[in-house]
Amino acid sequence: MIKDIEKVLITEEEIASKIAEIGENITRDFTGKEPIFICVLKGASIFMSDLIRQIDLPCAIDFMAISSYGDSTVSSGVVQIKKDVDTDLTGKDVIIIEDIVDSGLSLEYIRTYLATHNPNSVSVCVLLDKPKAHKTDVTIEYVGFELGNEFVVGYGLDFAGKYRNLPYIGILKEEVYL
Ligand code: IMP
Ligand code: MG
Repeated sequence: MIKDIEKVLITEEEIASKIAEIGENITRDFTGKEPIFICVLKGASIFMSDLIRQIDLPCAIDFMAISSYGDSTVSSGVVQIKKDVDTDLTGKDVIIIEDIVDSGLSLEYIRTYLATHNPNSVSVCVLLDKPKAHKTDVTIEYVGFELGNEFVVGYGLDFAGKYRNLPYIGILKEEVYL
């Protein structure tokens, strides 16, 4: 797989130390609370697994899966829920865990949707953000790394279902797309 990677953007070590930092921040901000982490499948699964082990609080987890219609590289903003949360979120402190924010349309949909479940609070934590690609004013409380508009894979992120198991974040060689 390494032969398909043009460049490693973020190493395994850099990811681990960033997650430790985010874990400390969330632990501090939610002291005295028992947040529920909601992982947006499938891309955020690896990030979520590592992050919750850096949280020194009692907490719960749940999972959601959504699909965005249309072209896979351009977000349409039309979102369908493929798997809903199983937990009653009434009065809960919800932390949405996403792999990457591009247009922000998926995240805005999920945030608005979960806010209708009468939680005490809703926050968002993403590993990667592409601020130049945002098409909506989405609020993100915890961001790991900011990127340009490059398409990245690894550490949960895929291209055509592959590369999720790379331990780092990298850019694919152009010939892999063509
Ligand atoms: P948004 O609704 O445009 O913000 O779409 C975000 C979703 O698109 C993410 O959850 C990913 O599934 C996917 N995505 C966006 N950029 C990338 C990327 O660079 N690599 C892999 N997936 C991406
Ligand atoms: Mg995703």
